[in-house]
Amino acid sequence: MNNKQAILVWDAPTRAFHWLLVISFFGAWLTSESERLQMIHYAFGYSAVALVLFRLIWGFIGTKYARFYQFIKGPNEMIKHAKGLFNGHQHITPGHNPVGGIVMVGLMLMILLIGLTGYLGVKEFLGNFMNEAHETIASLALALVIIHIAAAVIMSLLQNENLVRAMINGKKKGLPEQAIRFPQYLIGFLLLLAWAYSFYIIVSGAVPALTQ
Ligand code: HEM
Ligand code: HEM
Repeated sequence: MNNKQAILVWDAPTRAFHWLLVISFFGAWLTSESERLQMIHYAFGYSAVALVLFRLIWGFIGTKYARFYQFIKGPNEMIKHAKGLFNGHQHITPGHNPVGGIVMVGLMLMILLIGLTGYLGVKEFLGNFMNEAHETIASLALALVIIHIAAAVIMSLLQNENLVRAMINGKKKGLPEQAIRFPQYLIGFLLLLAWAYSFYIIVSGAVPALTQ
């Protein structure tokens, strides 16, 4: 335990993805009921979808702990992890744990579905059904987000490590050889620009095919 130190675990694109997704998701929620803010709602919503599409690619080509094979595990691993929580034998790896990992992937897929039903709702496909589906999936995603935030706090207390701060500065406790080598700042920065650009083109009405 003593030779553990702060090592880089989350690369810049993963961190940028996460916090931009938080802004987009809550932004979309806060603007969802107002007709006046409709374009802003679409802009936050589509930007969230764009972030998830990027993350799906980064899950295959990104740095070690950002890759899906690191945290998408079978049910056996998930049960082992959950049991470990209760009997104090936690298996702490620097990346996501197998239960959290599946919730996070679930959230990403739900955002894609929210975006798709939002788009089809705008196109008035299947009458009001898409709008209903959109609202229902958005509410389920919000419930899952609340559980996700609670889990981040509880796991931080159990592991005695601030996981929220780790998602900000990228650092967790670990052995030097477990660290990722490249923070990938440039890709993180490009992701931020792409997010801002996608927000701008939607909100300014430059892509009527998606908003009318
Ligand atoms: C993370 C992304 C999103 C979230 C969390 C979200 C959430 C919501 C919620 C909760 C409502 C219901 C508002 C009410 O109470 O009436 C709503 C409405 C709506 N959203 Fe989204 N949304 C997202 C993305 C999108 C996208 C990408 C579009 C695509 C254009 C879209 C189009 C719409 C439309 C057209 C409505 C009105 C539906 C109606 O008339 O009932 N949303 N959204
Ligand atoms: C203030 C609110 C939030 C906090 C404090 C928070 C906290 C965290 C933390 C600590 C992690 C890393 C967990 C670990 O160490 O294994 C994480 C990952 C993640 N969170 Fe959140 N979260 C928040 C909101 C959200 C929202 C709104 C969404 C999506 C709608 C979301 C989706 C995700 C995803 C997809 C990951 C996986 C990150 C990746 O591997 O790229 N989070 N979150």
